[in-house]
Amino acid sequence: MDDARVEIRVRDDGPYKVSGPVRLVDPDGNEIANPEPGRPIVLCRCGQSHTKPFCDAAHKASGFTSCVRAARHG
Ligand code: FES
Repeated sequence: MDDARVEIRVRDDGPYKVSGPVRLVDPDGNEIANPEPGRPIVLCRCGQSHTKPFCDAAHKASGFTSCVRAARHG
């Protein structure tokens, strides 16, 4: 991956993994610190995390399922 670009990877039955130079901010514009500095940010997609906006792996016990694939064009 090009280090200058942000990549948001949709993980099967799990979170969004955000890699690259990105700031996560609350509705007031205040930065939310990455709990694992220097590592990708992992954002909850299932709504069950107790540490929102971060994933805490609660998606596994909740039975969340979603396997997104990009639409193919042409
Ligand atoms: S996606 Fe992991 S806790 Fe929601």
